[in-house]
Amino acid sequence: MSSLADKLRQLQADAEQAFESASDSNAVEALRVRFLGAKQGLLKTLQKEMGGVAKEEKPDVGKLFNETKQRLTGLLEAAQARLDSQAAPQSAEWFDPTLPGRVMGRLAPARLGRLHPITQTMEELKEIMGRLGFTVADGPEIEDERHNFEALNIPREHPARDPLDNFYLKAAAGSAAGSGGQLLLRSQTSTVQIRVMETTPPPIRIISLGRVYRPDTADATHYPMFHQMEGLLVDERVTLTDLKATLTMFAQSYLGSGVEIRFRPSFFPFTEPSVEVDMSWNGGWLEVGGAGMVDPNVLAAVGYDPEAVTGFAFGLGVERLCMRRHGVSDIRDLFKNDVRLLGQF
Ligand code: PHE
Repeated sequence: MSSLADKLRQLQADAEQAFESASDSNAVEALRVRFLGAKQGLLKTLQKEMGGVAKEEKPDVGKLFNETKQRLTGLLEAAQARLDSQAAPQSAEWFDPTLPGRVMGRLAPARLGRLHPITQTMEELKEIMGRLGFTVADGPEIEDERHNFEALNIPREHPARDPLDNFYLKAAAGSAAGSGGQLLLRSQTSTVQIRVMETTPPPIRIISLGRVYRPDTADATHYPMFHQMEGLLVDERVTLTDLKATLTMFAQSYLGSGVEIRFRPSFFPFTEPSVEVDMSWNGGWLEVGGAGMVDPNVLAAVGYDPEAVTGFAFGLGVERLCMRRHGVSDIRDLFKNDVRLLGQF
């Protein structure tokens, strides 16, 4: 065959290599001009040599020429298609990630999250107590012995301070114990009573809701972390009757108008007298927490005059209330965070 045939084959090989390695559309366009350009393209230049091919070779060379032209056009198109598909993310329609998703072509219903049942319960308790004039106070979960015990009239040798009944924290290396003594995860929200009275003169009418920690083994009714609602009212001439009336109104708002309150004598170092609080529920009695009249020693410890003001305090278990109201029988179910349970609230 003539050298033109060799040149055509060489052109195909060169074009293959060039188009396959072209990495952007400018490069592809430059190759199109170089190989297939109508005026100065390499193929066009070779076409001009067709005139000098011997007559008997013409059919074969002509065929090879057409094949070469097709091959080059195919290479050009393939290169353009390859670059288009790479560029697709930018050139495609703008994608709005905030639109509802589609599942198999249909609009997928947006699944809204919701508040945990305990959080919902606490919100409702705040609302009920808010209607009774109580505002919300907050305190830290990591407390010192002064707020968790001493100011609450729980002296150093009291069994409630036993390391087996509390989560004491190891002091950080090199740090001196603070004036409030060792740190621990608070075992009760009564700590907030002290924090509020330390900084606010009477009258006081607050609730405080949050987590408390006790090293109990988890079972159907115990969990090493749970929530309490603390209440504190200090004013002139506050009596145990006010406490009972307040808790009765609270219980009837939360559990229903027929619910009654029962007090059983008890003991807490920071209240005198002290009671256990039961609420009637479906013919039975449910123990919901402790309460009492603020001990004069506690009032004195925060600088109040026990001759001038009196007060009541209570601490209720949030999980107990929530479980009873919603028929949850195992406290551990509240903290497994199984969406099948959470989705029911
Ligand atoms: N702090 C007590 C407890 O956790 C409950 C309580 C609060 C009792 C306020 C009396 C007054 O058991």
